[in-house]
Amino acid sequence: MVLNGDQLIKKMEENNELIEASLPFIKNLYTFVRGSGFVVVLADSEGFLLKIVGDEIEKKILEESNLVVGACWAKKIMGKVDLSKPNQFLTGRPFSLESGKWTCSGAPLRNHDGKMIGYLNMTGPSQNANYHTLGMVAAAAYAIEKSLHQKKTYEKYEMANSFKETVIESISEALIAIDTEGVIALINEKAKGIFDLPIHLIMGKNIRELLTGRENRDILSKMLDDNDITDIEVKIFDQKKYDEFTMTCNKIRSYDKRNVVGKIIMLNGINRARALTTRMVGANARFQFENIIGENVRFLHTVKLAKMVARSYSTVLLLGESGTGKDVFAQAIHNASERKDKPFVAINCAAIPRDLISTELFGYSGGAFTGSKRGGNQGKFELADEGTIFLDEVSEMPLELQANLLRVLEEKAITRIGGRETIPINIRVIAASNRNLKELVQNKSFREDLYYRLNVFTMEMIPLRERQDDIPILTNCFVKNISKRMGKEIKKIDEEVFKIFAHYTWPGNVRELQNVIERIINIVPANAITPDLIPLEVIYNTPNYRIDTEIAPIDEIERQVILKLLQHDLSKNSIAKRLNISRATLYRRLEKYKFEALLTSS
Ligand SMILES: Nc1ncnc2c1ncn2[C@@H]1O[C@H](COP(=O)(O)OP(=O)(O)OP(=O)(O)O)[C@@H](O)[C@H]1O
Ligand SMILES: [Mg+2]
Repeated sequence: MVLNGDQLIKKMEENNELIEASLPFIKNLYTFVRGSGFVVVLADSEGFLLKIVGDEIEKKILEESNLVVGACWAKKIMGKVDLSKPNQFLTGRPFSLESGKWTCSGAPLRNHDGKMIGYLNMTGPSQNANYHTLGMVAAAAYAIEKSLHQKKTYEKYEMANSFKETVIESISEALIAIDTEGVIALINEKAKGIFDLPIHLIMGKNIRELLTGRENRDILSKMLDDNDITDIEVKIFDQKKYDEFTMTCNKIRSYDKRNVVGKIIMLNGINRARALTTRMVGANARFQFENIIGENVRFLHTVKLAKMVARSYSTVLLLGESGTGKDVFAQAIHNASERKDKPFVAINCAAIPRDLISTELFGYSGGAFTGSKRGGNQGKFELADEGTIFLDEVSEMPLELQANLLRVLEEKAITRIGGRETIPINIRVIAASNRNLKELVQNKSFREDLYYRLNVFTMEMIPLRERQDDIPILTNCFVKNISKRMGKEIKKIDEEVFKIFAHYTWPGNVRELQNVIERIINIVPANAITPDLIPLEVIYNTPNYRIDTEIAPIDEIERQVILKLLQHDLSKNSIAKRLNISRATLYRRLEKYKFEALLTSS
């Protein structure tokens, strides 16, 4: 059987890769046997001849036996000779097994999966063939396989490379890959923009050479240390200017996952990120449950309830004094809910002027009033569609709007101001108030029906004075975060500070504690927080804090007495009088006990 024109063309095309990869090796093989009556033949896996290279006379002999390109040579010998491995066999005429005038030395060609894709064969007069001929053919077959394999690997590599490049150029972040020494191995266009240098000056450079100056030390150490980082805020300085980014770093591991071989650094320009979220949702929810600090038993119970309700669709009402964490909880609930990737829209009902609040919430339809935009505008409810709306200080919502809000909650649809059509919306409501809503209902400044609508899952936030045991952990966390932010190092917090904090009533709760610590770190002269740095209004409002140690050394007792008096009395003159010492001595004592902050006040 010989293939006709079209069939032959098809066959050749199908085997193009094999032919191209084999040809140099076939020609090379032939140079060793030229003139000795040999032909080298390449066949496909079914036995069809694809290429014949040989002396003219022998080619003629083959032709006479109809053994031309497109003919199937294997038919006569298939099943009689093992073609699955290198083999030498005698034939009468070429490729027949009639009698022993010719010797065929052949070897299969396999692809990377081990599948047979062809057969390489060298045929010639028996008297000129020897066992080495088979060795040569087998070696050539091996070389062809290797070459095909390499080509495939290279193609795969090129393909992966092209995928990789497309991916790293399509992501919106700036991306840099460094090895453990900090040498840049990969960088995308966006990241190049940060350094303002041509590519050939960036690739292969150490990141330390690009982020120079002491201002960049902080970000460099974060990039180069052993930790993974998710979305922290960083600054990159260029002389005195800086750009802000959120940075995420992930370790790159070796192929066997045993060693860290580098890091992927992703930087996202903050202005851009902020602009995007505020444009789309008007606010964003930063807090997660893992950022919420507290170990007090009652507090942990509140957290547990909040986590449970987060997963449901229920309306949540957060009640509690100012600074107890209502905002924090609202954000964490949103971020732990199924809606976390949807908008979180916060609206402070006390902060919006009364006459704007209805359009803020419900939007307006085109032409609703003079000067309104054509096509109208979306309100916060529409912006929050599929997400969460946080109605902060809900008690401050005007009565007439409370009716509208109630309708939204009941009908799950809104009507824009000045519009007629109802727009269906799917929102989860979290409301908060620091006022006693029940009382407001009683004196008719809050609608009763709305109160019951909101009062589905109510959580009382615990005032800080009722979870005093959390003060040390909160203090430590805030000191750590704020000092880091301000670039100061605090090594020690005086025991006395904790004692004062424990006895103070914290009317402003966690927010006040945070603010007090921020003020202290602003003025701290060395790396220790001492009682004298505590703002006076805290000291003066901590009357009951007592001396714990009964056998305190004389100095300690004197110090405590002075501190107590300071807490009660503003005037240093009267303190000196009560201690029966001179004003000058009092000043020396204040200095000695590090009440320096008090020295300057009256
Ligand atoms: N458990 C907590 N863990 C960490 N930080 C907290 C915690 N509670 C409160 N904070 C901090 O205190 C600040 C004040 O909390 P938040 O804004 O949630 O108070 P609030 O109850 O909404 O007060 P207001 O009624 O005045 O709006 C927050 O910005 C947050 O930094
Ligand atoms: Mg709040």
